[in-house]
Amino acid sequence: MTIMIDGDSDIEHISLADWADLVVIAPATANIIGKTASGIADDLLSTTIIATTAPVLFIPAMNIHMYENLIVQENIIKLSNLGYFFMEPEFGKLACGYEGKGRYPENEEIIFHITTYLKYTKDLLGKNILVTAGASREEIDPMRFITNHSTGKMGLALARSAHIRGAKIKFIHSNISQEAPEYLDSIKAISAEEMHNAVIKEQQNYDIIFMTAAVADYTLAKSSKQKIKKSADLNLELMRTKDILKELGKKKTKDQILVGFAAESENIKGNALQKIKKKNLDFICANNLKVSGKDDTEILVLGKGLEVKLIGSKFSVAHQIIDIILNSTKKKK
Ligand code: CTP
Repeated sequence: MTIMIDGDSDIEHISLADWADLVVIAPATANIIGKTASGIADDLLSTTIIATTAPVLFIPAMNIHMYENLIVQENIIKLSNLGYFFMEPEFGKLACGYEGKGRYPENEEIIFHITTYLKYTKDLLGKNILVTAGASREEIDPMRFITNHSTGKMGLALARSAHIRGAKIKFIHSNISQEAPEYLDSIKAISAEEMHNAVIKEQQNYDIIFMTAAVADYTLAKSSKQKIKKSADLNLELMRTKDILKELGKKKTKDQILVGFAAESENIKGNALQKIKKKNLDFICANNLKVSGKDDTEILVLGKGLEVKLIGSKFSVAHQIIDIILNSTKKKK
């Protein structure tokens, strides 16, 4: 097929294939996945995919039974092994009326993936990463709890970024303001104690741990099983929770990288440096409470001989934190 573009004689699928920095097939049907896996090139899309040397990202969206069909799954595995990228569909209501995995992801999620593929390689392939996020809730009674302002967005951004760069993620979260994406292996751990148990159980399995969660420093000495009825003033007795990060610092395995977070309202650098020492951390990401809670962030990353200030969206800052960690571990080797 020869087509004229801008007056030049050109072969359209080749010019498209050469021109693209990234080819995104969204939504990717079972048909186009199957065609590519079989090397079929019989129309503009399939010939462009076969002809391009740019990375190719498929965003499958289809009926749940079609998505789960073993032929489709085998095609996805085959293409993944050949270096094609896939973004997992989300769980939810599908166009066909069914509910399940196969739904077209949110545009925001697709844009995260595209931005990452344009900038990064799969440099975290083979890495196991644990990310904690969110605000703990310590129950006073069945109705009330003590919590903090953390939204969990920074932890989510780190988990997403690391996932797209090829890492296997465990995402342990307390209360977060957004749903965790389907493709993350997530566990809910609402209280500081639940977070402690979930994290410590598996800590030795991870290459990098991002302790982004805003874990409560205090919990109720005794929470009430029944709703407390109002009467006179109420005094609550609080006791310290276990410091998970400090325990991780003590148990740190060889080559494991431990990253702590610190939300400070004053003396940001000084306080953060003390936490690195006290908790045996490799890095600490300190942010000023004045700019927390928003989509953009300002973070000071400190490590051995390292001090970098990062400003931008949580997603771009997350990528830069990962870059810093990878660069400094490369230098060590
Ligand atoms: N952290 C933890 N376990 C806790 C409390 C906090 O693992 N019980 C972790 C957080 O996930 C974060 C870091 O420790 O990575 C924050 O350090 P921390 O010293 O607790 O900071 P603050 O809570 O800000 O403490 P302080 O009030 O002393 O500033």
